[in-house]
Amino acid sequence: MASNIFWMGILAVLYVFVTFSTPVVAPPPDKLPDPAAVVVEEPKADAPAAATEAHTPETAVDPATLIAKGKEVYTANCLTCHNKDPNVKGAIGPELVDAPLEVMIVKVRTGRYPEVLPAGFVPKRKTKQMRKFPQLEADVPAIHAYIQSLKKK
Ligand code: HEC
Repeated sequence: MASNIFWMGILAVLYVFVTFSTPVVAPPPDKLPDPAAVVVEEPKADAPAAATEAHTPETAVDPATLIAKGKEVYTANCLTCHNKDPNVKGAIGPELVDAPLEVMIVKVRTGRYPEVLPAGFVPKRKTKQMRKFPQLEADVPAIHAYIQSLKKK
């Protein structure tokens, strides 16, 4: 049940992004009101790579804008604890490149890890030191895109 609400939240975030971003190439009108396609794709997103792929249809509208926004929000809010380079740990928080989007959304909204973790994801820490940023929930796809853009294989 909680995951239904969770995915609806993601859809809302994606919808708002798609609605307010100015795409370089206007997407075909039938793409916008088709959240069903996203619902089918997204629950398969177990691994970080899969999560990124699942978002490609939406973020492909203008990834550069998304990444730039993510950099701005990440720099302003997360660098107190996490590293400028998300591949390595920061002053207080761990590296972020391995966290799937769904984990990052819950972490930012609540400060905690999700109760049910995605298959294959192992939290970097057992601590509960992170504070929550509920007002940034809508920006998490951008933050996640930015961090994945910096990921070293
Ligand atoms: C007050 C310091 C602090 C701030 C600010 C902070 N974090 Fe964290 N973060 C942590 C700590 C510490 C952990 C390790 C788990 C814990 O103790 O909560 C963590 C863990 C995470 C994880 C899980 C990583 C993993 O693979 O286990 C994600 C994702 C994350 N933070 C994202 C963010 C984002 C995005 C921001 C900015 C919006 C942010 N954090 C801001 C301290 C912080």
